[in-house]
Amino acid sequence: MLGRFFVVLLLVLTPHAILSVKQRELETVYQWKQMVFGFPTEADRQEAIANGNLVPENATPIDVATHQHSVKGSRVFTTVPRFTTGIPYTLAVVTDANEPNGPVLQPYPDYSWHNSHGSNCDKITSVFRVAITECNQMFVLDSGVISGVQHCPPQLLVFDLNTDTLFHRYRFESSMYVAVASLFITPLVIVHDPPPKGRCRKLQVYIADVTFHGLVVYDSELNTAWRVENKFMYPDPDHGTHSIANEKFILMDGMFGLASDREQLYFHPLASVSEYAVPLSVINNRTNFKESVDAMPQAFRTVGKRSSPCATQAMDSHKNLYCVTFNPIMLTRWSPNKPYNIKHEIEIPADRQLIEFVSGMKVHKNDVGKEELWMMSNRFQKISRGTMDFGEVNFRILRRPLDDIQHASISSQDLSQRLIFT
Ligand SMILES: *[C@@H]1O[C@H](CO)[C@@H](O)[C@H](O)[C@H]1NC(C)=O
Repeated sequence: MLGRFFVVLLLVLTPHAILSVKQRELETVYQWKQMVFGFPTEADRQEAIANGNLVPENATPIDVATHQHSVKGSRVFTTVPRFTTGIPYTLAVVTDANEPNGPVLQPYPDYSWHNSHGSNCDKITSVFRVAITECNQMFVLDSGVISGVQHCPPQLLVFDLNTDTLFHRYRFESSMYVAVASLFITPLVIVHDPPPKGRCRKLQVYIADVTFHGLVVYDSELNTAWRVENKFMYPDPDHGTHSIANEKFILMDGMFGLASDREQLYFHPLASVSEYAVPLSVINNRTNFKESVDAMPQAFRTVGKRSSPCATQAMDSHKNLYCVTFNPIMLTRWSPNKPYNIKHEIEIPADRQLIEFVSGMKVHKNDVGKEELWMMSNRFQKISRGTMDFGEVNFRILRRPLDDIQHASISSQDLSQRLIFT
């Protein structure tokens, strides 16, 4: 009798606890009709125009990453891969200067890193995505490819965000990729010895090869990389035709989105509705893949299926996995302690017009230690079909605090535990 009373009491009290954090909304931090490239000098701009290196309608922003620094303040970075010519720089910081098409970019770390356009492999050639770590470092994954030509080997560049200088460079050996066939697009970094105790010496970088269907693991202590391949990294032709906001396009991208809870690597190809996983302990062991890149097939598993394909993904410290599905357009959350199926794919309310093709996504810990989801959306369906209208807003950087979601998931866990003990 008393037990039943407690159950009722807890059920009455807990919804109140869940509601005590206000539901958050998606906020547009920056938006563009067309990308706006600033230059260090007017002479640099004139030279870029003369050489065909400034064609703003060719520019598609892909990634977003943000960083807070005690002296430099808060900075938001974006990437513009050189799918084609006319891109003056491929990694930029967003400034507070505004023009009619949107906020003005400036090259990062500076213009001299970008204006060789593949003729100098010590510089940056083309970047899809970056990763910023708790060590104040930005990992820049340079594909080395412009307009489908492999100008330089792919490389990993590590910039120190305190000094904005190069801290480390790793050039991938020719056995790690196949020129032009491979395309290194996504880096995910896990630091094993973070500050304040650690010295940021032990880390792994996981890299998605989207077109030659593989994963490359870089180990900082060994300063070497190895390749891992598995059938789950291939695109599924049954999910190669996509529909976003009623526009159909074909994109047969393989290995694409990466996320981790520090035990498993979660991954999926873009042309797929499945999420897959492999234990980090398996892929972190170079010996396992010494004889054969497609070793240990039994260690890879299907986690589950989502409602429709999604591109990039991210995971927070509560192990919530976020991804924006294509059709219907939904910002979704899934928790690894539930089966991954449509029933447990939870929709986070969001204005669908803001999140048409989210190609960049990061969980960022802000200056008061709270996690936020940052996204870049770019309406890739319109780029693919050639229906872009530069009179409309096409590119957006979005932010959403996660405290309401994280608080709700803790509360429901509390509830289930307390009910068991009652
Ligand atoms: C790595 O894998 C090999 C077998 O491929 C095994 O013998 C070795 O113990 C593993 N190392 C670690 C640290 O787990």
